[in-house]
Amino acid sequence: MADKLIIFDTTLRDGEQSPGASMTKDEKLRIARQLERLKVDVIEAGFAASSNGDFECVKAIAHAIKECTICSLARANDRDISRAAEALAGGGSTRIHLFLATSALHMEKKLRMTPEQVFEQAKLSTRFARNLSGDVEFSPEDGYRSDPDFLCRVLEAVINEGATTINVPDTVGYAIPELYGRFLLDLRTRIPNSDKAVWSVHCHNDRGMAVANSLAGVMIGGARQVECTINGLGERAGNCSLEEVVMAVKTRRDYFGLELGIDATQIVPASRLVAQTTGFVVQPNKAVVGANAFAHASGIHQDGVLKARDTYEIMRAEDVGWAANKIVLGKLSGRNAFKQRLKELGIEMESEAEINAGFARFKELADRKSDIFDEDIVALMMDESSHAEPEHYRLLALSQHSEMGERPHASVAFAAGDAEHHAESYGNGPVDASLKAIESRLQTGAEMLLYSVNAITSGSTESQGEVTVRLQHGGRVVNGVGADPDIVVASAKAYLSALNKLHSKIERVAAQG
Ligand code: KIV
Ligand code: ZN
Repeated sequence: MADKLIIFDTTLRDGEQSPGASMTKDEKLRIARQLERLKVDVIEAGFAASSNGDFECVKAIAHAIKECTICSLARANDRDISRAAEALAGGGSTRIHLFLATSALHMEKKLRMTPEQVFEQAKLSTRFARNLSGDVEFSPEDGYRSDPDFLCRVLEAVINEGATTINVPDTVGYAIPELYGRFLLDLRTRIPNSDKAVWSVHCHNDRGMAVANSLAGVMIGGARQVECTINGLGERAGNCSLEEVVMAVKTRRDYFGLELGIDATQIVPASRLVAQTTGFVVQPNKAVVGANAFAHASGIHQDGVLKARDTYEIMRAEDVGWAANKIVLGKLSGRNAFKQRLKELGIEMESEAEINAGFARFKELADRKSDIFDEDIVALMMDESSHAEPEHYRLLALSQHSEMGERPHASVAFAAGDAEHHAESYGNGPVDASLKAIESRLQTGAEMLLYSVNAITSGSTESQGEVTVRLQHGGRVVNGVGADPDIVVASAKAYLSALNKLHSKIERVAAQG
């Protein structure tokens, strides 16, 4: 029987480390449920010791998700490990993931420890974790830039202490596919007890090679677990992209010869959910999940695909969850049809009250936009679910005036806690005027790092606009997302949503890696 390739998703941990991608507990739970539908094997739900917020997220996900192993990251010390175990307690299948840097550079400059101290700490912390969990993963951070002789000693020792998975990170995206594959093979060949653990790859995408490096780690190095994120989300240039690895292994089964547990039809819904939650938009030409990934624009290709699909297509769009844009509901649709569509889209609402609120907003939208597509419903419900949490700032009303040759003017009403504010401003355009109006009243001083508008459904000016705003303030970077057929309103919503995130105090310590 073919070996299984374990898919370890770290969107909620390494992906979330991307500046601006931090998520609330509800958002993480929603993504975890989608990862469960996608049938990933392991979900790294967070880094329990990094903040109370992360602890609560790991705990909630460990309790809610039954079909995947739930994992928490921990530094190799007793406090972090105990905190991870505590957050995972009561869950089904759980894992503690320890990391400790082993490269000369990291040991000397970051940890300020000698190699002997690192060796001892790796051993003792693995022993400690193994007493709390039967499933322990050990990652030598910056492993690929570590001295192979030293790495062999450390990894042999942690396997002896009971580590069940050994993950070799290319923390800084330095690897080259063939060299990384051989590096892993060399470790596995030289370490006498290497067969007692599952070997894993974890590659960062700084030079666009994370997927290639991961696959080389599998084929040359013999790894049987790939660590990856939806849309390749992650710090700097991101992590290895789940959808690309999965579809590479699936479409080229002749070469890889490996089994996957993944339900690929859930890939596009997962990609959309992560993009809409974090505000990290997927580029149109992104493999598998980009809007153009299956669009044949050139006449020669279109002609070929019409005659025989496989002339230019190696994967089928529907196999990865692309459904043609369908008009699913309209203003005459009832609550039951709406509820049924939510179910089909895999959107679970916590309560009837949430469904009712979503349905009311759907009716409002249907009054303004004749055709409602699946994408509109997802955006609407994302907005609705964020309302489930106490929001400090809320948009109440907005009007703006712009005329060729005149300076645009906006007036905005919004709530801040229990207070209601009215503000007005001129600006370079109606969006600028609206955001300046809000800022003139709140005086947050937040710096705008990004403003982007996307059409939720392509091909028509009737589409809803989805706006992402990235703000920086007091060392924190947050993204806010807003959707509305009127992009000025969508922009004000996105701005207030980012301010809401800045308003909520999410403390976390920096996770390295
Ligand atoms: O990139 C890295 O080294 C990491 C580890 C913590 C696994 O994310
Ligand atoms: Zn990483």
